[in-house]
Amino acid sequence: MAEERRRLRAGVIGTGTIAFSAHLPAFQKLRDEIELVAVADVRAEAVQTAAEMYGVETHYTDYQEMLRRERLDFVDICTPEFLHPEQTEAAAQAGVHVLCEKPMAASVTGADRMIRACEAAGVKLMIAHSRRFTGRYMQIRAAIERGEIGEVRYVRENERRPLTMYDQLDLAATYWEPEGGKPWVQMAGYTHGAAMTNAVHETDLARWFVGRNPTSVYAEARMTQADSEIPDMLTYTVEFEGGAIAAAEVVNHLPRGYPYFHMMEVIGTEGRIQAIDPEQSPSTVAHASGMTQQQNFPVLLHVDEAYVREIRAFAEAVRNDTEPVLSAHEARGAIELSVGAVLSYKRGEPVSLPLPEGVAVDD
Ligand SMILES: NC(=O)c1ccc[n+]([C@@H]2O[C@H](COP(=O)([O-])OP(=O)(O)OC[C@H]3O[C@@H](n4cnc5c(N)ncnc54)[C@H](O)[C@@H]3O)[C@@H](O)[C@H]2O)c1
Repeated sequence: MAEERRRLRAGVIGTGTIAFSAHLPAFQKLRDEIELVAVADVRAEAVQTAAEMYGVETHYTDYQEMLRRERLDFVDICTPEFLHPEQTEAAAQAGVHVLCEKPMAASVTGADRMIRACEAAGVKLMIAHSRRFTGRYMQIRAAIERGEIGEVRYVRENERRPLTMYDQLDLAATYWEPEGGKPWVQMAGYTHGAAMTNAVHETDLARWFVGRNPTSVYAEARMTQADSEIPDMLTYTVEFEGGAIAAAEVVNHLPRGYPYFHMMEVIGTEGRIQAIDPEQSPSTVAHASGMTQQQNFPVLLHVDEAYVREIRAFAEAVRNDTEPVLSAHEARGAIELSVGAVLSYKRGEPVSLPLPEGVAVDD
């Protein structure tokens, strides 16, 4: 008789927007494989609501206490990125594997701290780049791997979203007591708007589809709002080893009600792949022998299955003691490219990659 699989014990740190909208529902779907034993958040009311809504037995306002008491197999970090390094270090020191929301950190140095801490403690670390687990992008990558479009030469991405994220950040302002009285949106990471929030999805996808390291990035950024200090409109071009290039346009501060939109085009020596929001358009692969259309996918954001897949993929790596499918070094690469874009638009010139050690977005 097959041996019954033990359910892994997991905890969530941070029960804010992404936890409520994606991670907690995904854990519910995975309850036969993973037991979400505890949730932690500095906001007592939010964490209590999360526990009640999702039937989680225990909740904490101090995540360190959760790490000490709960004998977790892994923790899922859903807090703002400037907290990811210290929370990853704490989990690693407690011997707990770490799945952590993107962006990995607000700086390359922060990403390195996370990798070092997990390597030293012998625990696994995976960054939850949800797009890597989204059907549309998995298909594109599979088509590239099958050689359907030859060698990738050009990746073009376009992502636009409305103001909602900043409405959500108002919620954050109510709990975060920042140094020097600054609202948290001006803390590390959020100061850099599009480049560090959603462009990190694009920098990660471009690296994934090209399959080579970037050698330089040139970016321009603008503020969409006259009274804003956050550059929410970003364009950049990236050059990769071997000569492929990528170009992206990322805007995350459009008028309320403007639809989310995402467009991805990958051009290779022998064909082209395109996937466009909205209207559930299918992705289309065109190559020398003709065109194929692939299944419809819903508009990009909150593709529920992506979160189920990513949590399950990490849990399986923990259970089987294998490498997570998405290495932490890959996620670090996406951060480095985003940081390079910030440095480029600040300096008004292309920036060579890899970046020198210790360089920060504020340099
Ligand atoms: N994968 C995606 O597509 C996606 C989408 C949205 C957000 N995110 C990422 O998820 C992370 C969280 O974003 P969000 O929109 O949910 O933010 P949020 O502000 O809505 O939620 C963050 C939560 O962290 C909690 N928190 C803050 N400090 C804490 C601490 N010291 N200990 C415990 N909890 C603490 C807050 O109280 C809040 O509930 C960010 O890094 C963001 O970029 C990813």
